[in-house]
Amino acid sequence: MTSLPTHLPVMLDEALDLLNVGPGGRYLDATVGLGGHAEAILRASAPDGQLLGTDADPDALGLSAERLERFGERVLLRRSWLDASARTATEAGLTPLDGVLCDLGLSSLQLDRPERGFSFQAAGPLDMRLGPADQAQTVTAEEIVNQWSAEDLANLLYDYGEERRSRRIARAIVRSRPIQTTTELAQCVVDAVGIRPGARLHPATRVFQAIRLEVNRELERLAAFLAQARGILRIGGRLVVIAFHSLEDRIVKQFLRDQSSGSQPAFRTLTRRVLRPSADEIERNPRARSARLRAAEAV
Ligand SMILES: C[S@@+](CC[C@H](N)C(=O)[O-])C[C@H]1O[C@@H](n2cnc3c(N)ncnc32)[C@H](O)[C@@H]1O
Repeated sequence: MTSLPTHLPVMLDEALDLLNVGPGGRYLDATVGLGGHAEAILRASAPDGQLLGTDADPDALGLSAERLERFGERVLLRRSWLDASARTATEAGLTPLDGVLCDLGLSSLQLDRPERGFSFQAAGPLDMRLGPADQAQTVTAEEIVNQWSAEDLANLLYDYGEERRSRRIARAIVRSRPIQTTTELAQCVVDAVGIRPGARLHPATRVFQAIRLEVNRELERLAAFLAQARGILRIGGRLVVIAFHSLEDRIVKQFLRDQSSGSQPAFRTLTRRVLRPSADEIERNPRARSARLRAAEAV
């Protein structure tokens, strides 16, 4: 038996509860990753629930296929970007669905493999593509870091990293070119702005976030996915989204606010306030600490 990389599913009980998972249900996990949430959904919907899992990352799909193999024909896995997952569900003949889950961001698989370029704990190439085999996805972190103008870089760090020191960091990046690895980039940020004593985040965290969001067009895809979600849910079907930073969460919050108001709302919000992981969960799984869950029911 091979040992699979572990990724502890975040806010699992809350997600299952709000998805209202039960036997015979049909679900889409639009960010199936290593299959943690998917496995729990398949168990809770036994004996005949069905799940389509999509992800941009072929490595993640390979591993979730192994993990979910024992569910046989109850599972379908497809490589798909978030903004194409609704179409994939329709083409698979699974709609209308009882529940749609989206657990954004990166899995441990991506974070823990330096060659993917998402982490600055160990040196890796400046890649950061979620779908590295994707011919259509030609922009890499390397291109942004080594070719963009200081002004474009600063705007990116400000808009997608909410980085107040964006200009100073952008100028330092331009001065340090060529930058070849993730650790070189992180060091360049540290040299530019220093490390504040007691700071919770490494100063490069927001820089990496901004570049990754741009490389994969993650926020645009999230907005497009949300806009398509109502069309693949049955009335009473549930939408659950787990976000990991304020930019993602703002998009989800705004979407649900717009869609659950007016004379013909498409959703009824189930989480009046955003849900956060319990202190216990954060202790067991520190990667859960920035999670924010919102859920709604199709009306
Ligand atoms: C946090 S992980 C999901 C973990 C999963 N819920 C589990 O329990 O194993 C997020 C996954 O979403 C995928 N992903 C993130 N943004 C995406 C996008 N815009 N399109 C497609 N896949 C995306 C990543 O490749 C990653 O595998």
